[in-house]
Amino acid sequence: MSGKITNKAVEEYLYDILPPRDAVLAEMEKAASREDIPIVGPAVARMFYLLAQISGAKRIFEMGSAIGYSTIWWARAAGPKAEIYYTDSDPKNAKRAQKFFKRAGVEKRIRILTGDALVMLDHTRGNFNLIFIDVNKDQYPAAMKKAMKRLKRGGLLVTDNTLWSGRVTRKADSAATRGVQEFNHLVYGMKNLFPVMIPLRDGVTVCRKL
Ligand SMILES: C[S@@+](CC[C@H](N)C(=O)[O-])C[C@H]1O[C@@H](n2cnc3c(N)ncnc32)[C@H](O)[C@@H]1O
Repeated sequence: MSGKITNKAVEEYLYDILPPRDAVLAEMEKAASREDIPIVGPAVARMFYLLAQISGAKRIFEMGSAIGYSTIWWARAAGPKAEIYYTDSDPKNAKRAQKFFKRAGVEKRIRILTGDALVMLDHTRGNFNLIFIDVNKDQYPAAMKKAMKRLKRGGLLVTDNTLWSGRVTRKADSAATRGVQEFNHLVYGMKNLFPVMIPLRDGVTVCRKL
C-alpha cells in the first residue's frame, strides 16, 4: 500500500507516524498486503476522512471499491445519516466487503452495487456530494466525464493513483498510463473544476466542482 513517489525514508515516516487502526481496518490492511489488493491505505484514507468531514458530504459514490476499505473510511466520516455507494465489478469482492461493513458497524449506510461502476452510476438517482474514482486506469477519462454529470456544484471529485508510480511523467506505454495522463490533462483544463494533485502514496487528485 506504500507509494513510489516520495523517497523510502519519507514514505516510512508517513506510515510510522499514523495511529493504529481498529481491528477491522487492521485486518483489511493485512489481507490487502498479503493478497496484493491495491487499497488506498491508511495515509490516504485519513485524508478521505478529513475531506468528507470538512465538506459535510452525505451522498458519496465510490467507483471501484474492492474489499471496501476506502468505503468504510468514507462511511465513518460521513456519519449515520449518510448514503455511501460501494461498487465493484467482482461479486466476490462485494460479498467480502459486506461482511467487513457489518463488523465495522456501517452496513446500514452503504449500498452495494455489483457491476461496472460507470454503468452502476446510471442506476442511482440524484446527485452526489462526493465521487471517488478508483476503477481501471484506462477508464479514468470516461469515469470522470460520467461523474461530472452527477456531482453537485461545490462537490468533490477525488481520484486515486493520479501519479501512477511516476509513469505519468514518461511516454505512455500502456492504456492505463494513457488513461491517467489524459485524466490529469482533462481535469486541469476544465473551467468548472478546481483540481489539486497531492503526491501522497501514488498520487491523489482532489477537485472541487465550481
Ligand atoms: C484499486 S481497487 C479499489 C480499492 C478501494 N478503493 C480501496 O482503496 O479500498 C480497484 C477495484 O475496482 C474494481 N474495478 C475496476 N474497474 C471497475 C469498473 N469499471 N467498475 C467496477 N469496479 C471496477 C476492481 O475489481 C478492483 O477491485
